[in-house]
Amino acid sequence: MRERTSLDKGWRFALGHASDGSKDFDFRRDRSLVKAGEGRGAASPSFDDSGWRTVELPHDWAIELPLDPDGGKELAEHGFRAIGPDHPEHSVGWYRTGFDIPEADLGRRIAVEFDGVFRDSVVWINGHRIGRHESGHTSFRFDVTDHLVYGGRNTLVVRCDASSWEGWWYEGAGIYRHVWLTKTAPLHVAPSGTFVTTEVIGKTATVTARTTVANESDTQAMFTLRSTVESLVSSSMHILDPWQSVEVVHAISVPDARLWSCETPNLYSLQTEIESGGQVVDRHQTTFGVRTLRWDANEGFFLNDLPVKIKGTCNHQQHAGVGTAVPDELHFWRLRKLKAMGSNAYRCSHYAVAPEVLDECDRLGLLVMAENRLAGGGPEFEGQLRAMVKRDRNHPSVILWSLGNEEHTVQWSITGERIGKTLARACHELDPTRAVTSAMHDRGFNEGFMHVVDVHGWNYIGVGDILKWRERNPHRPIVGSEEASTVCTRGIYIDDAERGYVSAYDRRTPKWGSTAEKWWTFFAERPWLAGGFVWTGFDYFGEPIPYKWPCTASHFGLMDMCGFPKDNFYYYKAWWGGDPVLHLFPHWNWPGRDGEAIDVRCFTNCDSVELFLNGASLGRREVPRNSHVAWSVNYTPGMLEAVGHRDGVELRRTRVETTGEAARLELIDEAADFRDIAIVAVRAVDAEGRIVPTANDFVEFTLEGGGRLLGVGNGDPSSHEPDQASSRSLFNGLAQAIVQRGEGPVTLRAASKKLASCTVSLRERVQDA
Ligand code: GAL
Repeated sequence: MRERTSLDKGWRFALGHASDGSKDFDFRRDRSLVKAGEGRGAASPSFDDSGWRTVELPHDWAIELPLDPDGGKELAEHGFRAIGPDHPEHSVGWYRTGFDIPEADLGRRIAVEFDGVFRDSVVWINGHRIGRHESGHTSFRFDVTDHLVYGGRNTLVVRCDASSWEGWWYEGAGIYRHVWLTKTAPLHVAPSGTFVTTEVIGKTATVTARTTVANESDTQAMFTLRSTVESLVSSSMHILDPWQSVEVVHAISVPDARLWSCETPNLYSLQTEIESGGQVVDRHQTTFGVRTLRWDANEGFFLNDLPVKIKGTCNHQQHAGVGTAVPDELHFWRLRKLKAMGSNAYRCSHYAVAPEVLDECDRLGLLVMAENRLAGGGPEFEGQLRAMVKRDRNHPSVILWSLGNEEHTVQWSITGERIGKTLARACHELDPTRAVTSAMHDRGFNEGFMHVVDVHGWNYIGVGDILKWRERNPHRPIVGSEEASTVCTRGIYIDDAERGYVSAYDRRTPKWGSTAEKWWTFFAERPWLAGGFVWTGFDYFGEPIPYKWPCTASHFGLMDMCGFPKDNFYYYKAWWGGDPVLHLFPHWNWPGRDGEAIDVRCFTNCDSVELFLNGASLGRREVPRNSHVAWSVNYTPGMLEAVGHRDGVELRRTRVETTGEAARLELIDEAADFRDIAIVAVRAVDAEGRIVPTANDFVEFTLEGGGRLLGVGNGDPSSHEPDQASSRSLFNGLAQAIVQRGEGPVTLRAASKKLASCTVSLRERVQDA
């Protein structure tokens, strides 16, 4: 039977060298390119790696590196980490692990599967160079059946070379996603070998399962293929010659199908069984959903024949403390935050994501624009696109394939048009059910790629004239593939170029961007715009626009790098989500500014808001749709209170108060229901328990009783404190510690010089069933 086991534990790791062969464990002298199986140096099974560090996957070595303030423009884009072309000493990483294969496995097909390695990885098994994989984002696998030692120990070695970039943001380095060992019978469902499509007529869904069965043996196979959805079965008998594969198509009628939607993300499972010689030799599960997709030039996007305005965010998959080595549950937590904000869509900018991201989007009902890294064409880059489509085409959440993002040089040219056509054809061939787009800008709006996509992807209404475009192209569906790029720092209300902070009032953007209010109002008012994706849901390392050093991280997020909401989060929550929102800002701690006018605002979906300062009304304001209300208030310490009304009755009341000095720390596990990790918010409160929004105290963490501190952060885009550490300063009252749970309950303690310390007990780790 099929088995899939994790190879995440028990790796040894060391840095090699991208330009000095003497420090790269004999990579240049590796004999496995000369004679099969003669891996030399670290590639040899007999290499002594006992001096190397032990690491557990996912692992990102870039997050451990120092910063290089003099690194130039590209390094700034990458968050100033000392890696890349100018840092050969930090840009190559070696990983080694061992695993046992029992003799009884002889005759099975065995493969090693990598969900993502950054980047340009060379893989050896038992001294045999088994393959090379360039892309830092696509998943890949190598069949190692022939090279294994049966009834003994096996050595798996990976060398990654991150000395070239694939992007213009922090990209991490190393084996930053899971690794698996997969074993099947010789007769099995091929990798990415099921493709489920659905058609809905009335209440009945026709589920079509296309299954590729491979016979990787020397004997002809007779088998029955059985496809089961709930208790409905379709089966057929086949004969398959040695070393051949066949695609089998089964159709199953599901009456009263429960549709997948954003509100009710119903999922089904297809069970595929191969029975041969009276035995089930392979059993394989595919999760899918039943839903219909339609794009309309006048009315936008339809899910199950109902119009859905896309309220999305673009995101890089990285987080404070851990870099790109994001644990599964941290992905889940981030996606749930986006959903809680009222978002219904997620753009995988600008590359294939971890499989777990799409699994969770399926479960949450988030619509996904899945994006290819580079619209380059040719075997490598068309191959990357194909790998992504084949891996991800069963996810009901995926509604669009994107060929790439802002391909300045090709998106408008005739060469680009040809490349784009080839790539779009590859998508349609592998998946005739979904539309193809590309995130375009500039000349790409009117030439080249625009002729090959099904849905026009518009990056930024601030670039090009979208209304003129619409006049000229009234029959083309269009989505705002990227919008906003509003820059805000959490808890900051005065720009500070020196420290690299920008006020959070939804005011500033780079020249191509728009405020939240501007782009969303524009899109909300026009039904032909299918909606759009904010750049970005979360801050990320790199792209410190509008600043440079000392600022090292982006300001685009609606949440900071720790997932702490900025004020704009509530703008979207008010106008995207259904729940009442009344968010009042800024904070009310402005010592030394008595009598000065302060811009006070509310993001709300109430009809009107009345503001009170220390009990005295400062007036009631009507709330314009998709906008905000504001007052200029002369500062006096005390309490600012907003009362929101809807339909003439009070709906919500909220306040900000001048707090006292920070007195003590508080710890809250924001992921108390997670099995594997705890996500602990650290905050400073005053004697009355109010969060002190300006506290920046240095906090030290200790874990007692096991567990592992995976990383720390505070959302400060200019912080130079290490992420892989057991201390962190608060930034505007908050910090975060990400902890891997222990075998039993563990205690996290936070201590700071001037503040009373705090402990929190973190529930034990729950192992996978
Ligand atoms: C876009 C680009 C994104 C990011 C953003 C910053 O043009 O697609 O990756 O760089 O600008 O505003």
